[in-house]
Amino acid sequence: MKKQQLAIVTGGASGIGLAIAESFTKNKIRTIIIGRDKKKLQSAKKKLGNYCEPISFDLTNLKEVPNLIKYIIKNFGYIDILVNNAGINQKKEFTEVTDEEFSNIIQTNLQSVFSISREVVKKMILKKNGVIINISSMASQYGIPKVIAYTASKSAIEGMTRAMAVELSPKGIRINCIAPGFIETEMSAKALNNDPERKNKVLGRTPLGYLGEPKDIATTALFLVSDAAKYITGAVLPVDGGNSIGF
Ligand code: NAI
Repeated sequence: MKKQQLAIVTGGASGIGLAIAESFTKNKIRTIIIGRDKKKLQSAKKKLGNYCEPISFDLTNLKEVPNLIKYIIKNFGYIDILVNNAGINQKKEFTEVTDEEFSNIIQTNLQSVFSISREVVKKMILKKNGVIINISSMASQYGIPKVIAYTASKSAIEGMTRAMAVELSPKGIRINCIAPGFIETEMSAKALNNDPERKNKVLGRTPLGYLGEPKDIATTALFLVSDAAKYITGAVLPVDGGNSIGF
């Protein structure tokens, strides 16, 4: 019998992260979801059932990340899978973005991904086994106005995916990145619902002609962590209805 796998999904209580956690738990992968909002974590736990373990933690609390991973190892055992999904966005004119706002987005979307990956990789290396998925965005495939910090963070995620893959694949750890197109979640609703022009532009360059569902990213994540993807590492995979190559 195959050993019970353990996954961490950051930002797993809502949107894309919740869909990924759902696809994992349905496939009997024990899944720790990390988020800040205890209520959202509890309702996700209710929805996902026994294979889901919620942990309330703010990922920008970098100093505590090593303790978080120690706690997880002690209480749940070996970490097979890490999905770096948590992220925040801010839509604001370039000249209006403060240094603090820029740093805050970099801290959440980039620095915390590095810190948690480093701590998890230290453990994965010991068993020469592990899979990491990072999540980037269309903002790193082409220029999108008014999302300067988000674009900087997500472009760095793709570079970091490749750097991690060359260094860590020889140590038995596969690292890939999913670049979602425009997926219906709270985050995209904030960016698109009061801006019909932007929404039309998005749909106009999406060959499939509609927004994606969180489930579309979740099925891709499930594939990437499975043995069916055992020869895939360092890839950035757009799951975008063709948006990244749209005219
Ligand atoms: P969401 O806002 O529904 O979910 C993000 C989750 O991350 C939330 O549960 C939030 O609580 C958590 N989070 C944020 N900061 C955190 C922190 N400091 N500590 C712990 N948890 C934190 O957004 P959505 O749409 O599900 O996004 C998930 C990922 O997909 C993000 O990285 C986003 O940038 C990316 N993405 C989303 C797209 C979309 O169209 N929805 C498109 C491209 C990328």
